[in-house]
Amino acid sequence: MNSAIAGFSKLSKEEKINWIANEYFANPSEALTTIKQYWNNDSKLQQLHDEFIENTITNFYLPMGIAPNFLINGIYYSVPMVIEESSVVAAAAKSAKFWSTRGGFKATVLNTEKIGQVHFLYKGDFQKLEQFFIQIKPKLFQETESITKNMQKRGGGILSLELRDKTSELDNYYQLHVTFETKDSMGANFINSCLEQLAKTIKEQAQNYPDFTEAEKGITIVMSILSNYVPNCIVRAEVSCAVEDLAEKNPKVSGENPQEFAEKFVQAVRIAEIEPYRAVTHNKGIMNGVDAVVLASGNDFRAVEAGVHAYASRNGQYSSLSHAKIENGIFSFWMEIPLALGTVGGLTSLHPLVKIALEILGKPSAQELMQVVAVTGLAQNFAALRSLTTTGIQEGHMKMHLNNILNQYQATSEERKAIAKYFENTAISHASVVELLENLRK
Ligand code: MEV
Repeated sequence: MNSAIAGFSKLSKEEKINWIANEYFANPSEALTTIKQYWNNDSKLQQLHDEFIENTITNFYLPMGIAPNFLINGIYYSVPMVIEESSVVAAAAKSAKFWSTRGGFKATVLNTEKIGQVHFLYKGDFQKLEQFFIQIKPKLFQETESITKNMQKRGGGILSLELRDKTSELDNYYQLHVTFETKDSMGANFINSCLEQLAKTIKEQAQNYPDFTEAEKGITIVMSILSNYVPNCIVRAEVSCAVEDLAEKNPKVSGENPQEFAEKFVQAVRIAEIEPYRAVTHNKGIMNGVDAVVLASGNDFRAVEAGVHAYASRNGQYSSLSHAKIENGIFSFWMEIPLALGTVGGLTSLHPLVKIALEILGKPSAQELMQVVAVTGLAQNFAALRSLTTTGIQEGHMKMHLNNILNQYQATSEERKAIAKYFENTAISHASVVELLENLRK
């Protein structure tokens, strides 16, 4: 039976690890060795990572790979991707190469607004509340000025303040719905600081507002927080080419003929548009690309995930983020997704590998990064649908996964060679690899 611990956060790193090792492992010294194996020899670098979060015991590695040859709006990018799933980087690279000879990807940022809300309770007359807001609006801008002035210099700040009556859905519930422009920063801290100041001003001003009754003066601030739903921070990524140009040297990957391939592809997208079970997996494939670049660029992938999936349900049913059509012999494939990203602030100036990733991307603005991320998602979706509607997903996937199985069983280089040869023309499965290894080892 494991025990609880008081004051874990106050222990030194060494004490924390010792406690974990003794509490949870039959062989504590083996666990200690593994945990410490992932420490960085450079103590300054280790300290930097230790201090990103609390109660750090070690570093958790994820591979960082590169998908080259992404032609986006006429510029070539090598895209850094951080992901644990085999096949994803290979699929992105394959899609990038395919479309680089067919005009490349086009990407457009449609808008960049971010949202935050002060949620509060008010018991009284709505018209009086409206009047109150009209009166205090200049004060709301004025009292946030010390927070917004630097952002304003960069062309951002608070774009609008809107009072929303939500009492038909929840008794006494109102919002101050605030729209922000945060330029190259993701802006979470900026937005939350502004909102907390706005809330403070509302509360103070209400207490001194002569037209309010005592009950009306007692506005209760429930919370002030940004929204990760950003339906007006949208980027569009697209590709198109003549249907006959979809032909590939290898007919296995483009179907019987390009027309047939294009039609089946469009059909696969239609299924994801109307069938939520398929839409979730379809969009998961898009997020394989999106998250990998979001992580590599030091952005908040949970925020992006939450916002993207809410957007995918905006019409009342979860649906495909991407769309495809064939019109006048032209195949088009596109998606629009919300992405609140930053290329300054947060991890972007702290994590050495994030700095490297952004440098590889040519030190992009937030808008450029939105374009690269969306394109990588679309490329991933194209690769997945191309495999699914032609060869099936497992052929390529298992080829990439073979290495993981061989590593799991610590295969020698001779065994690897023999196994690679055996599976040249045979379908790979976990069981068949293990069986072959066992036979080789007899
Ligand atoms: C696997 O990580 C992603 C796919 O399932 C996406 C899809 O089905 O479109 C291959």
